[in-house]
Amino acid sequence: MDNNFGPNVHILDHPLLTHKISLLRDKNTGTNEFRSLVEEIGMLMGFEALSDLPTQDVEIETPIEKATVKMLAGRKLAIVPILRAGLGMVSGLTSLVPSAKIGHIGMYRDPETHEPVEYFCKLPDPIEERTIVICDPMCATGGSAIDAINLIKKHGGKMIKFICIIAAPEGLKKLAAAHPDVQIYVGNLDRCLNENAYICPGLGDAGDRIFGTK
Ligand code: PRP
Ligand code: URA
Repeated sequence: MDNNFGPNVHILDHPLLTHKISLLRDKNTGTNEFRSLVEEIGMLMGFEALSDLPTQDVEIETPIEKATVKMLAGRKLAIVPILRAGLGMVSGLTSLVPSAKIGHIGMYRDPETHEPVEYFCKLPDPIEERTIVICDPMCATGGSAIDAINLIKKHGGKMIKFICIIAAPEGLKKLAAAHPDVQIYVGNLDRCLNENAYICPGLGDAGDRIFGTK
């Protein structure tokens, strides 16, 4: 779908995806259901984000005859959740590509400044040869996504995709401008940020809702 954020931004807005995101938004959706929905959404968004994975011809025999069929080429994939909330999307993504390696980037937003603070980074080698899918349910100011991508690039990562369930226009604009070489996939684009840099209408604090903390 065309949008004002640039050719590297894909706002998915698929009715099945949007239905599940609407269930997430409901404050009466409990931890268990929330977790399952984030996992399913991770899978649906991964399906879309990985639609350009290369395939190769393979000879097989069907019960009817010999055939040349297409299978995924042995390209190396890394899934990198931004902790904590990104963890909720990982099992959905690995259900699509079970052989993917998993890295982790730990970031939290400073409650006063809303600036991201990095506390952990472990990426699978060789990161420069992998297609990297970073996942995080929320892109609010865009700071966490921008810094996570900077960090991955510093470690040598080149082929990077970022998927988030909900984005605010302010953060998405900054992210797309900071990393025009990164393909960005957004489930729903929301209205704005509030004074605490939370997405409106959003879904609240994604990490707290996934892990049942406050
Ligand atoms: C949330 C979310 C993103 C970040 C988005 O994480 O999961 O990582 O905020 O905000 P930004 O676009 O303004 O940077 P949070 O910092 O709450 O950490 P958590 O996942 O550990 O709860
Ligand atoms: N982080 C969240 O979890 N939710 C928001 O709305 C903004 C940042």
